[in-house]
Amino acid sequence: MKNLAIFASGNGSNFEALVRANLDCNIAVLICNKSDAYAITRAKNLGIEYKVVKDEEQILKVINDYNIDLLVLAGYMKIFSSDFVSRFENRIINIHPSILPNYRGLDAIKRAYENGDKEIGVSIHYVDSGVDTGEVIACESIQVDLSDTLEDVEKKVHKKEHELYPRVLEEIL
Ligand code: GRF
Repeated sequence: MKNLAIFASGNGSNFEALVRANLDCNIAVLICNKSDAYAITRAKNLGIEYKVVKDEEQILKVINDYNIDLLVLAGYMKIFSSDFVSRFENRIINIHPSILPNYRGLDAIKRAYENGDKEIGVSIHYVDSGVDTGEVIACESIQVDLSDTLEDVEKKVHKKEHELYPRVLEEIL
């Protein structure tokens, strides 16, 4: 069975969705770069070990200690160095709330909504050394209704994320 590390910096709803999906793998550890992230509270409640890390050296130690096969980013707000990425070719995966290559980077949902897009998506991609530039593995979209507020759209996108990420990971595994 493969060992996964999930990386998160904030809320951690995707982390929780992945744990609750009971994938055919061992979610060994949550790696977090913010000691006050709500993802840590979720890890405690879910009984998943967690590590707060300051730099890539510490991350490498955790990956080694837990014998991690796959690095799964879920709202991890830090860019890895190209040296780090090259050690784990095709073994780092990320979820991004847009139809890539559109709206790479921060505030993707807000930018798409404010642009009047009628279709907003979720992409899952391999991580390379750019920001949301790696090869796309899967992409699905949701429709924006005329009456939708930004908050409504965010809810729809997150619902799609929580369903798509486990499904795609299961396939990768
Ligand atoms: C998600 O929208 C994800 O696509 C993006 O960051 C957000 C994380 O949300 N990369 P959460 O922390 O999983 O709730």
